[in-house]
Amino acid sequence: MKTNSGKMENKNYKIGKAFFEKEWNDEKIKIHSECVIEACINMSLSTDLNQNIFIIAGWIHDLGRKIDKDSHHVLSLDFLKEFLKENTNFTEIEKELKDCILNHRSEGNPETIYGLIFKCADKVALHNNKWLEYKKNKKSSCS
Ligand SMILES: [Fe+2]
Repeated sequence: MKTNSGKMENKNYKIGKAFFEKEWNDEKIKIHSECVIEACINMSLSTDLNQNIFIIAGWIHDLGRKIDKDSHHVLSLDFLKEFLKENTNFTEIEKELKDCILNHRSEGNPETIYGLIFKCADKVALHNNKWLEYKKNKKSSCS
């Protein structure tokens, strides 16, 4: 099946990706974030949902892992704050971005449809072929 990965790389995708690269640029999380965004975009095709929310949340949701894995969903909100300071035109979607980021983990309770889709996409991303390929190569280079 054809994926939407080519189409999803719009201007906001590049803005989010540039922020991610500036803050951390971890290879593993970069691939994971790409897969989360792809799953969100594919889940919201032919809807009126704002895909920019998924794109920005996708790039920011795991940045907190740079500091601490256990509380990363909360710590990622600080990165969101920083992002919104630099990109004030995204403040109108702040509530949805926060919901996606804060509630993306298994114990999260999303309040918006964006958060619900995002939480699901975080798990779907683990089955993305690009992710599986990355994990496989990583394993074989370690052995
Ligand atoms: Fe996460």
